[in-house]
Amino acid sequence: MSSISKNLADLRKNYTAGQLSENDAPQDPIALFETWFLQASQAECPEPNAMVLATADTVGTPSARVVLLKGISQGGFCFFTNYESQKGLELASRPQAALLFHWHELERQVRINGIVSKLSAAESDAYFFQRPPASRIGAWASPQSREIESRAFLEQEERRFQDQFGDNPPRPMQWGGYRLQPERIEFWQGRPSRLHDRILYTKAQEAWRISRLAP
Ligand SMILES: Cc1cc2nc3c(=O)[nH]c(=O)nc-3n(C[C@H](O)[C@H](O)[C@H](O)COP(=O)(O)O)c2cc1C
Repeated sequence: MSSISKNLADLRKNYTAGQLSENDAPQDPIALFETWFLQASQAECPEPNAMVLATADTVGTPSARVVLLKGISQGGFCFFTNYESQKGLELASRPQAALLFHWHELERQVRINGIVSKLSAAESDAYFFQRPPASRIGAWASPQSREIESRAFLEQEERRFQDQFGDNPPRPMQWGGYRLQPERIEFWQGRPSRLHDRILYTKAQEAWRISRLAP
C-alpha cells in the first residue's frame, strides 16, 4: 500500500457535534434547511452557500461542480450560471439534478434531488444587476466550459466588453438563473460509532413524507 493510501485508511473522525431526531423535523424541509443554513453561517463554515451541483448528459454520464446558492424562492433553490456551459447544456436536455451541501464544522450534509428550470428573465436581471460591474463583464468575457486558446484571450475579451459597455454592462442572454424544485431532501447529522442520523423528506403530492434511513 502506498503511504498516502495508508494515511487515508487511517484517517477517521468520530462525529459528536449534534443529533437530528424526528421531533426536530418540521413538516416543511425548507424550514429545516433554513435553520441549518443559519447555523452553518453562525458556525462560520466557509462559504456556507457553496453546493455541489450534479447533472447528467443524455446517456447518463454524471458530472459535478460547485456553484453558489443565491436564494430560495417558490420552494426551490436558485443559482446562476451560463446557460451554454456544460451544466447548462445538460440541464437543457435532462432537467433532473442533485445538490449537495457539506457543512464540515457541524458534521452535516444535505442532499437534494429535483427538477431544474430557468428563472424568468426578470429574476435573472434582478440578481445580475446586483453584481459588481467587473463580475458582469466577466459574464460577457467567458464562454464558460468552451476550450479557449489562452489566458490572454480572456483578458482581451474583458477589455473588449469593458470598452463596449463601460460601467453598466447589460445581462448576456446566455447568462441567468435556475431554480431546482426539490422532490427529495435528506438531512444527515454525523453521530458517534457511524450510527449517523438521516432524516429523509419525500414529496408526496403536495405534502412531504418524513422517514428515517439507516446510516
Ligand atoms: C466556491 C465555488 C463557487 C462557484 N460558484 C459558481 C456559480 O455560482 N456559478 C457558476 O457558473 N460557476 C461557479 N463555480 C465554478 C463551477 O464550479 C464550474 O467550474 C463552472 O460553472 C463550469 O462548470 P461546467 O463546465 O460543468 O458547466 C464555482 C466554483 C467554486 C469552487
